[in-house]
Amino acid sequence: SAMTRGGLLPALVLLPLLSLPLGRVGAGAPWEQSAWHCSFSGACECDFRPDLSGLECDLAINLVGQHLARELVMKGLKAFVHNHNPEKPLVFSFHGWTGTGKTYVSSLVIHYLFHSGSHSSYVHHFSPVLHFPHAEQIEQYKDNLKNWIQGNLTRCGRSLFLFDEMDKMHPGLIDVIIPFLGPSWVVFGTNYRKAIFIFISNAGGEQINQMTLNLWRARKDREEISFKDLEASILEAVFENPQSGFWKSGIIEQQLIDYLVPFLPLKQHHVKQCVRNELASRGLQPQPEVVQAVAESIPYFPEEEKVFSLTGCKTVASRVPFFL
Ligand SMILES: Nc1ncnc2c1ncn2[C@@H]1O[C@H](COP(=O)(O)OP(=O)(O)OP(=O)(O)O)[C@@H](O)[C@H]1O
Ligand SMILES: [Mg+2]
Repeated sequence: SAMTRGGLLPALVLLPLLSLPLGRVGAGAPWEQSAWHCSFSGACECDFRPDLSGLECDLAINLVGQHLARELVMKGLKAFVHNHNPEKPLVFSFHGWTGTGKTYVSSLVIHYLFHSGSHSSYVHHFSPVLHFPHAEQIEQYKDNLKNWIQGNLTRCGRSLFLFDEMDKMHPGLIDVIIPFLGPSWVVFGTNYRKAIFIFISNAGGEQINQMTLNLWRARKDREEISFKDLEASILEAVFENPQSGFWKSGIIEQQLIDYLVPFLPLKQHHVKQCVRNELASRGLQPQPEVVQAVAESIPYFPEEEKVFSLTGCKTVASRVPFFL
């Protein structure tokens, strides 16, 4: 109604979204009436169309070697997504070595939660190198980031914020979002507790690799890995490391991360599976010679035993063409 619209104008002016140089600014005609209807009635879920069985199936088929990630992501989402009145937003933090599937899993999650997937105007992807490049502008970034999140949560409570490459984030920057991660924020009918946050970083990767290696040396199954041990050592590693994005962070201190998700280093047979996936996505047969050759072309660590891929599956897609 006209009255509602008039009443909202001051709020609009307060949202300095354009000051943040994000690719998706202004996409999707943000200030439509439907968006306001969403945030005030709490009934509409914007672009949120979760298909958790689709996600579960896709993860089971395509994600290799990451039983913990698969279980934790599904567990977190199942409990949260169908809850219309969650107590706090859902906060994931993905940790692990390069090429182990962190970005991949986050894109699958987005694909199965939002109708328009990564194109959804309710999915916000932050990359420190792109969005927060200059250390001397950190105070400005803090303001921008806070306003950006607040503005977008006002627009739609069912928003997802993805912070990739947390380890490149300036120490202290991420703590401005602490108020949005806790339980207390319901302002003007906006339910800040319906949001999803995903942090991604390599921090903790060495610890995860070392534990997985120890297990392998003890001839134990990697699925026997103790999540509790991993969790404690990842938390310690990120909290103590100035290059983790979570250095001395209140997010860790206040235990605002609901699911700490470790990604284990990948072995050669996992890499082979990635090669088969890549061949299939190109419409090709899983030729065993190609699979073998690509997997053997990748470096493995540690030096003596050569158990885990140094680059996970990251270079598989670019290597495959050389072996066809
Ligand atoms: N566990 C996995 N299962 C299946 N495919 C994988 C897995 N890990 C990586 N891949 C493949 O390798 C590509 C690169 O992985 P991804 O970008 O997710 O790595 P990452 O963990 O985000 O690494 P980085 O820390 O360097 O960003 C993916 O797009 C996917 O095709
Ligand atoms: Mg990544």
